[in-house]
Amino acid sequence: MSNDGVDLKKRRFLTIATSVVGGLGVVAAGVPFAASLRPSERARALGAPVEVDVSRMEPGSIQRVQWRGRPVWVVHRTDAVLERLPSVEGKLRDPASQVLQQPAYAANPHRSIRPEFLVLVGSCTHLGCSPSYRPEVAPADLGPEWQGGFFCACHGSRFDLAGRVYQGVPAPTNLLVPPHHYVSDTVIRVGEEQGAAA
Ligand code: FES
Repeated sequence: MSNDGVDLKKRRFLTIATSVVGGLGVVAAGVPFAASLRPSERARALGAPVEVDVSRMEPGSIQRVQWRGRPVWVVHRTDAVLERLPSVEGKLRDPASQVLQQPAYAANPHRSIRPEFLVLVGSCTHLGCSPSYRPEVAPADLGPEWQGGFFCACHGSRFDLAGRVYQGVPAPTNLLVPPHHYVSDTVIRVGEEQGAAA
């Protein structure tokens, strides 16, 4: 047999082997690809925006959703709550939202687009526990000065009903306001800025 014949056989083998390995690669790569096509998993993986319908929320109620694996709260604040917000400013660490814990459109006294609806990431800025929603005024366990807010039982951090942190607690900053906007009068899309591509 000539050397040419051997080379030809080798070349054929290499061609077939490469095709098989390449084919296996396509199959292997196809498994995660197929999985990624399942809508719920894909949405989770990409951190897709989450829509929150606030049309049935009573004043004073809270709605909890998940965005990018994190708790997000939407709170329907009452007029009384909004009126009380300025009264605690002297006890807050960052009452004017100087630290970048919110988009520019929430850097206002109520830390929200519309005063009545507050949107927050529900993770304490100390070590990430999820604070409790405590809207009542002066409950026995939180003391006579409590004007309603969020209380983190892990190490005692306190936040007002705009998510602003009190002085003298372990949490260093206000609770985070995630990017969000209104897609209609009653639906908030969390995780996306106004005008962003869907
Ligand atoms: S994690 Fe909230 S006070 Fe420490």
